[in-house]
Amino acid sequence: MTLRPDTFAFVADLVRRRSAIQLEVGKEYLVESRLMPLARAKGQDVDAYVAALRTAGPAALEVVVEALTTNETSWFRDVQPFHALVQHVLPEVLAGPTGVVTPGLPQRGLRIWSAACSSGQEPYSIAMSLADAAPQADLRIVATDLSKAMVDRAASGRYSQLEVNRGLPAPMLVKYFTRSGVDWEVSPALRQKVTFQQHNLLDAPPAGGPFDVVFLRNVLIYFDLATKRDVLRRVQQVLRPGGFLLLGAAETTIGVDDDWQRVPVGRGSVYRLPHRRAA
Ligand SMILES: C[S@@+](CC[C@H](N)C(=O)[O-])C[C@H]1O[C@@H](n2cnc3c(N)ncnc32)[C@H](O)[C@@H]1O
Repeated sequence: MTLRPDTFAFVADLVRRRSAIQLEVGKEYLVESRLMPLARAKGQDVDAYVAALRTAGPAALEVVVEALTTNETSWFRDVQPFHALVQHVLPEVLAGPTGVVTPGLPQRGLRIWSAACSSGQEPYSIAMSLADAAPQADLRIVATDLSKAMVDRAASGRYSQLEVNRGLPAPMLVKYFTRSGVDWEVSPALRQKVTFQQHNLLDAPPAGGPFDVVFLRNVLIYFDLATKRDVLRRVQQVLRPGGFLLLGAAETTIGVDDDWQRVPVGRGSVYRLPHRRAA
């Protein structure tokens, strides 16, 4: 079956307005395959299902937007950012904005925002990395995603064997998870370091900042240039002076928002805002 052009146009417009995700012409197959199960559940084809949405309430529209998000993730995804976090970002953050290393940890603790966290593997990977590298730190991670379904899954801290097989090193599994039936559950000690909430990157940043580090990985790729720039400007508002931004491997601030400074670390990069002098 081929989608009617007006069906595709309606869905692409809805998804762009509500999430900023761009569905270019040529992505009809994606819309069709993601909406097919929802349409079938109502005994309709996708065209009829979408036609009925034109008069539907916000909850039905939210389901469609969620269905069009791509939630691909894994533990310690791309590995390099987690090395950069421990080996470069953590010592710099602990040194403070003056760059003078003071012994011990800052009183205020470490505040991290994992934005667009999908089903939670990213914030829990951050928590495991820092629990090992800075066990005394008062660590608080705010993890957010547009998708309510993803946020609920992440907050449950429950993962299947198939999911833990994707990038979770065996020693981490043993140390930070317990068996729960056929699944694995994140330990309460790790879970209490992470709070999850639904949040749209098109809105003002979530509470819990200012943050020392913001992970914003593998989500800017779905946005147009103006939206990428707006999102990066909002991140600036909640990043503590001297704080760091970590992006996905295919993402950069270069040519998007030149306020950021790219700092090469290992085989990747992290980003920071140069310190501003007091006027
Ligand atoms: C590919 S996943 C990335 C997950 C994780 N950051 C990683 O790198 O593995 C992209 C996530 O971005 C979320 N997303 C898409 N548009 C968003 C928006 N406007 N606001 C917040 N999250 C959004 C999706 O729901 C999805 O879970």
